[in-house]
Formats: sequence, structure tokens, C-alpha cells
Amino acid sequence: MARVFSGIQPSGVPTLGNYLGAIRNWVPMQDTDECLFCVVDLHAITQRQEPAELLRQTREMAAALIACGLSPDKCVLFVQSHVPAHAQLAWVFNCIARLGWLNRMTQFKDKAGKDREAASTGLYVYPNLMAADILVYHATQVPVGDDQRQHLELANDIAEKFNHDYGVDFFPRIEPLIQGVAARVMSLRDGTRKMSKSDPSDQSRINLNDDADTIANKIKRATTDPELLPDNLAALEKRPEARNLVGILAAITGRTQEDVLAEHAGRGFGAFKPALTEALVAHLGPIRAEMLRLLEDPAALDAALHQGAEKAEAIAEPILKRAYEIVGFLPRR
Ligand code: TYM
Repeated sequence: MARVFSGIQPSGVPTLGNYLGAIRNWVPMQDTDECLFCVVDLHAITQRQEPAELLRQTREMAAALIACGLSPDKCVLFVQSHVPAHAQLAWVFNCIARLGWLNRMTQFKDKAGKDREAASTGLYVYPNLMAADILVYHATQVPVGDDQRQHLELANDIAEKFNHDYGVDFFPRIEPLIQGVAARVMSLRDGTRKMSKSDPSDQSRINLNDDADTIANKIKRATTDPELLPDNLAALEKRPEARNLVGILAAITGRTQEDVLAEHAGRGFGAFKPALTEALVAHLGPIRAEMLRLLEDPAALDAALHQGAEKAEAIAEPILKRAYEIVGFLPRR
């Protein structure tokens, strides 16, 4: 049985991008693999978070994950700051990763923007913490969206350099699992930018707690072009917004994009958008309802997360201990 790890930042409500690109793929893995899924609050504070908001969003994220089908009985569901081993191994990795490696990270460049000097040092070393998240469990399978590919390659570089520098075969290779048409869901306002929970425009995304009217409104206002839908995918190549909406409908209904085009070819967005709205509301409505229900009992949610943290810690502790011994730290009794 493989060990799976993945994480999500509580920096907002999960979006349709998070759902289709990641969370939805996590659900079936619980039945076949040993899975750890983590709400990564340490990662979230690499950019400014209001404390009260962070707390609320952490519970909201946990509720959303359970509402999407993760079961605290089938997987280890927990909050990153509850398991100190992540930060403890990350420090070692800060001393393994090279500045040159981090300088190549495109997500840092995107998130830091023009004023790079003003970015937190945490944002810079973010990928080292990500490597620690995975490797502190010796997890090998990491289901993520396409935007995490470069970070996972870096995690493998870190594992390899650690093994090489200390002459051990300790950290395993990580395999990124990046699946299907929805590995990169784009913004509803601009088909060249990814849909993101931290985008300042709420119109750019569908949130998992959006109600039916909000979804309808966002889809109605989504940027499109004046052309009709073609009967083949190649014709969508230079139409990023159209391609994105076709991809979303395909992913949410479990069909291929070709299949969606076969049905809608020759129609304009005036006809396509209501079909997309209907499919989204049908799929996301029950998730939203379950999320709201779970949030009515925060004590039960917290209890599930505490139980998850205990299970996670039991796996991480011996691995961290061994890593510290390899580095040459004086063993603690
Ligand atoms: P985060 O919180 O940005 O996103 C969580 C997951 O959702 C995927 N995703 C998307 N997939 C398709 N289309 C989109 N528009 C889209 N937006 C987000 C992401 O690829 C991700 O899988 N650094 C990570 C969290 C993390 C992590 C880890 C992941 C921390 N430690 C260890 C894997 C392993 C992040 O910020 O994800």
C-alpha cells in the first residue's frame, strides 16, 4: 500500500479549481492507499492572514474536505501546525536546498510580484516546507494540480541531496500525480490565469460554498468570446476562456471534452452557460449543504482534526528522529 500526502492552504474558501484539480482525486485514494491530507496553515501565513480569518478558514477548509468526501475514519485529516515535525524537518531542508534552486521557483515570482524585497522569507523557503510535509511521512504519492509540479521536483532534489550528502538511502522519491483536464482550472475573468482562492476578484472563481444564485451569476458574467463552439478541441486552442468552460463542464460531469463539444457544437455561450450552471449547481449543491451542516458543530470538527494530528504525529516522529540522527544531532532521551 502506497503512502499518499497532499495539502491545501486555508487562505480562503476552496475553489472549483482546488476541487477538480486536487480534492476530488483524493477521495477514491482513501479506499486503496494510506492517505494523509493536511490543512497547511504554516504555508498560509507566508502571506499576511488576519488571525480571526485564518482560524475561521482553517475550520471551513476542514469542513469542505469532509463535505467533498474525505472521511476522518479512512484517511488522516489534520492541521499542519498541530504536528511540529513538519517545521522541524523543514529547518534541515532549509540547510539542504540551495538559493539557486529557490530562485527558479515560478510561484514565488508570481506571488511576490514586483516588490520582491517586501516578500516574507517564509514565502521564499515555502517549497522546503512542502518537501518536509511529504518526506516527514516518507510519502511517495502526491496528488496535486499542475501548479505544484515544480515544487515537487524541488522536493525530489532536496531528498536526493540529503541522501547524497549524508551517504544514506533515507528519503524516497516522490511521484507527483497530476490528473486530467482539470489539473489547471482557469479564472472565470481571464482564461490565461489560474483560478485561485486568493485572487482579489471573487467573480474570478466558484467557491465551494457559493449558492446556486451566486454560481449562476458568476457563470453568466464569465468572460467568453463571441464565436460559436466548435466541434473539435483543436479549434479551442486560441480561445482560453472557451476552452476553460468546456473543460469545467467535462470535468464536473465526468465526460471528455470531445463529448461536451459534440453536444454543444454550433451553439453560442448563451446556450452553453445555463447547461454549465445547471451541472455545477447539481454537483456542488450537496457539498455546500454538507459543509454548512458540519460548520454548525465546530467542536466535532476540531475533535476529528485532533485525532488526525495524533495519527500523523505517530508516523512522523520516528522519521524525524532518524533524520536528526543522520544529521548528527545529539539524540534526546
Ligand atoms: P493550494 O492550497 O494552492 O491548492 C490546493 C490544491 O489545489 C490545486 N489547485 C488547482 N488545481 C487545478 N486548477 C486550479 N486552478 C488550482 N488551484 C489550486 C493545487 O495544485 C493543489 O494541489 N503548496 C500547496 C499546498 C501544499 C502541498 C504540500 C501540496 C503544502 N504542502 C505538500 C502537496 C504536498 C498549495 O498552495 O496548494
